[in-house]
Amino acid sequence: MKIRIDKSACVGNARCAAISEVLFELDDDGYIAVEEIDVPEGMEQLARRGARSCPERIITIVEDDAE
Ligand code: F3S
Repeated sequence: MKIRIDKSACVGNARCAAISEVLFELDDDGYIAVEEIDVPEGMEQLARRGARSCPERIITIVEDDAE
């Protein structure tokens, strides 16, 4: 699973980081610092919650292709 973020559209709500600071790293100005994140095993739920938490709806979950 991956997370894709439309970084340029981030307005610094920081709700994503409140769900998981590990997955959703912020830069010094409080904006999301990354565009694509590989979700470590076991963190899928946090990834989904983080994606839902962004009021700008700029966080997308990319599921692994089914075999
Ligand atoms: Fe940005 Fe949304 Fe997180 S606006 S800081 S990606 S909650």
